[in-house]
Amino acid sequence: MDKVKLAVIYYSATGTNFRMAQAAAKAAPDSTVDVRLRKVRELAPAEAIAANPAWQAHIQATKEVPVAVPEDVEWADALILSTPTRFGNLAAQMKQFLDTLGGLWAQGKTVNKVVSAMTSAQNPHGGQETTLLSLYTTMYHWGTIVVPPGYTDPVIFGAGGNPYGTSVTAETTGEITEEAVRAVEYQARRVITVAEWIRKGRS
Ligand SMILES: Cc1cc2nc3c(=O)[nH]c(=O)nc-3n(C[C@H](O)[C@H](O)[C@H](O)COP(=O)(O)O)c2cc1C
Repeated sequence: MDKVKLAVIYYSATGTNFRMAQAAAKAAPDSTVDVRLRKVRELAPAEAIAANPAWQAHIQATKEVPVAVPEDVEWADALILSTPTRFGNLAAQMKQFLDTLGGLWAQGKTVNKVVSAMTSAQNPHGGQETTLLSLYTTMYHWGTIVVPPGYTDPVIFGAGGNPYGTSVTAETTGEITEEAVRAVEYQARRVITVAEWIRKGRS
């Protein structure tokens, strides 16, 4: 059986979603999964980035992470997407990347990919759930198979109990808690398991 192909695609200004994406990518076993960790292209003006030292530092720290391209989505059996909450919605950088994929969508190449999403917001109730649901709306248009964590494991309660996807309250340092890491790892393993089931079922 071929390895499952997992693309973890994120946007992050100050590191939170990068750490979540990294934890998801690391949770995939090398023996059964090929992983691509990709950031979406930055769109903010240089002046805005320069005005925020944490943003500038994060860009510098992650300059080696490849920028996501449509082929990453075409390649993947499973996608994990991670974006900060922006006014209760996904970051424009992530939305813009999704909007570049009309060509793939039109060719039916987004269909049946297994997808799950993660997010962060500055406030405990700052729009994490609406962000995930907004992102999933696009995933329904794509004909993907959305795999939320639900309440399928106690680890979800340790990370705030968001059944739509792991979400965190962002720290100014961009660090995430051990509980959040455990929930992200669980979510990633669940996505991989479902992708494996679908692969086996189709073969
Ligand atoms: C334009 C903008 C809008 C934001 N909107 C919200 C919001 O609606 N609710 C909230 O709690 N935090 C909001 N935030 C804070 C971000 O969600 C927070 O900085 C982000 O989750 C950190 O993730 P990152 O470190 O991966 O960039 C906003 C930040 C910006 C810059």
